[in-house]
Amino acid sequence: MSQPTKYWAVVPAAGVGKRMNANCPKQYLPLAGQTVIEQTLHNLLRADVFTAVSVAISVEDPYWPELPVARHQQVITAPGGKERADSVLSALKALQAQASDDDWVLVHDAARPCLMPSDIHLLINTLANDPVGGILALSSHDTLKNVQEGSIVATLDRSHVWRALTPQMFRYGMLKSALEANEGNPAVTDEASALELQGWQPKIVEGRPENIKITRPEDLALAAFYLQQLNLEQSV
Ligand code: CTP
Ligand code: MG
Repeated sequence: MSQPTKYWAVVPAAGVGKRMNANCPKQYLPLAGQTVIEQTLHNLLRADVFTAVSVAISVEDPYWPELPVARHQQVITAPGGKERADSVLSALKALQAQASDDDWVLVHDAARPCLMPSDIHLLINTLANDPVGGILALSSHDTLKNVQEGSIVATLDRSHVWRALTPQMFRYGMLKSALEANEGNPAVTDEASALELQGWQPKIVEGRPENIKITRPEDLALAAFYLQQLNLEQSV
């Protein structure tokens, strides 16, 4: 008899948050009564689908061991890497003894604390029978320009351009080998790009616009507002 498919979450959280310009990495800034990373991990854990969550943390990070969630029984800590893709690969390797090649992995940025469990379920249900996998994405409301040296050279066809969010969901074996094949390649800025470089065409699933990545200082107030709205929505 075949085993039921397992789902693992991988959370890259080893960045320094340079663009945030704060006195600690942005994943440890306060947000709605917790830190950013606690909000993110609680949203993943309450989706109630993951066998474990593997979190990549910088080896020089003094903040992580102080958080109760670091000792949660479903949370595994892996050493972070130089680039985001290195951190993801490290967190995948930490699951090696437990995960099978056909298991699904959902990679989600620590810096996206407003992910709703409903979006996790939407991604999983939409891609359950897909041979490759895919990502949450959003269409662009703005007109998009191709710019060279400060001048517009073309207007892009917006219907073909999407903004890549996370989670990004792929099979454990396929994702690990795509990342290994492209180690050190600066073109790998998300998991989908590693799969694309191997010749695959991942699917997109339209996500919620609240699922922002905290990047600059102004994003924190927006995330606090979204969390408040989303919690109200869930309590009705
Ligand atoms: N990340 C990681 N390992 C790295 C770099 C980034 O795990 N070597 C993680 C970040 O912690 C974050 C996610 O990847 O959760 C998305 O990256 P980004 O938003 O770029 O975060 P930072 O790299 O920390 O920010 P910045 O680029 O402004 O320095
Ligand atoms: Mg970065």
